[in-house]
Amino acid sequence: MKITIAEVSQFVGQEVTIGAWLANKRSSGKIAFLQLRDGTGFIQGVVVKSEAGEELFKTAKALTQESSLYVTGIVQEDNRSPFGFELNVTGLEVIAEAVDYPITPKEHGTEFLMDHRHLWLRSRRQHAVMKIRNEIIRSTYEFFNERGFVKVDPPILTGSAPEGTSELFHTQYFDEDAYLSQSGQLYMEAAAMALGKVFSFGPTFRAEKSKTRRHLIEFWMIEPEMAFYNFEDNLKVQEEYVAHIVQSVLKNCRLELERLGRDTSKLEQIKAPFPRITYDEAIEFLHKKGFNDIQWGDDFGAPHETAIAESYDKPVFITHYPTSLKPFYMQPDLNREEVVLCADLIAPEGYGEIIGGSERIHDLDLLSERIKEHELDPEAYKWYLELRKYGSVPHSGFGLGLERTVAWISGVEHVRETIPFPRLLNRLYP
Ligand code: 4AD
Ligand code: MG
Repeated sequence: MKITIAEVSQFVGQEVTIGAWLANKRSSGKIAFLQLRDGTGFIQGVVVKSEAGEELFKTAKALTQESSLYVTGIVQEDNRSPFGFELNVTGLEVIAEAVDYPITPKEHGTEFLMDHRHLWLRSRRQHAVMKIRNEIIRSTYEFFNERGFVKVDPPILTGSAPEGTSELFHTQYFDEDAYLSQSGQLYMEAAAMALGKVFSFGPTFRAEKSKTRRHLIEFWMIEPEMAFYNFEDNLKVQEEYVAHIVQSVLKNCRLELERLGRDTSKLEQIKAPFPRITYDEAIEFLHKKGFNDIQWGDDFGAPHETAIAESYDKPVFITHYPTSLKPFYMQPDLNREEVVLCADLIAPEGYGEIIGGSERIHDLDLLSERIKEHELDPEAYKWYLELRKYGSVPHSGFGLGLERTVAWISGVEHVRETIPFPRLLNRLYP
């Protein structure tokens, strides 16, 4: 019977065959321990010379790291391993031998591992991070589908720049100029006027010359947009959504979190509601903490965000930023025109901003004025303005950066390990 490692619990005491790779091996004169992986999981295969016979034991001892095999054996419960099962090997068939696999169990430098990302992905640690990433994606669809949101796919090739023109990837669209999408938001606003509550999930591109542990050139964003939702309604969706994905990972990725050494007690506390402070309060707090360089009107850097986040054991919303710091489309606070109805959600433990969102301007005249002030091409935004011309309604939305969220929940230091093939300032390979 051909099965996968994920299915072994249903076959205790039975002989099964698993297609696998040899992740690692330990052996003595009498016994060989084979660390096997098949993508669905990891299991130890045991070959005892006195039971298996000379021939099989010799094959086992000669196996090289990352060779592919069909392994036949009897499934045994084993409460010493966190996985709970092992395989008493009765047969081995080598499919393809791997010679001199470059990633050995010894320590390797980051650049070396990144150059071998196509192989590094096979490691237990990377496997765990990818499984957590997948669970966040799965529970995202679950959350929004359960609440009646419709998944909408905005274009990747675009003619407009929602998040400012300095970080655009330029490309040629036959005879026209085009840009890779920085955010699907403007299209999601159009979709919200058609479908009410919508969300997108797709790649976005920023030609940011930032070389930090939080920045990727290509990253994936989840962007919900809701008609008739105000600033307050928007924050409620965000805290419930983030709590949902954290609790889903805790429930469904126990082995992966353990493998990564994640302190799960910190994640257990992530339940709605989340604390909030205004930008003004944040500035005051930073001054008290000795950050004297920062003034009202300045944007926060990573050290500022980390200092603020350290005061809380949940993600914290920083709200009401100065209008001058934020994109053209954000709704001003009508009681205080110099700030906008926006919020950034800052993750705990120094992982930085994971969400940016706001209420959007729905007044045609104000939006036209802002487009002029920001010196954006009115032709490119003609369609966007028409959303305000024909039945405009208050609406709000946000964007959650997937990789920063994976980094935080997994407890992984750098976003380069949270996406299969990271695109970084100095890396387009592999
Ligand atoms: O705050 P940002 O720029 O917001 C927007 O793009 C809005 N249009 C979203 C919306 O309202 N629909 O980006 C949103 C999130 C950030 O909070 C961060 O998590 C992530 O995207 N992000 C990045 N992640 C990795 N690398 C980068 N260079 C990132 N830039 C933003
Ligand atoms: Mg932002």
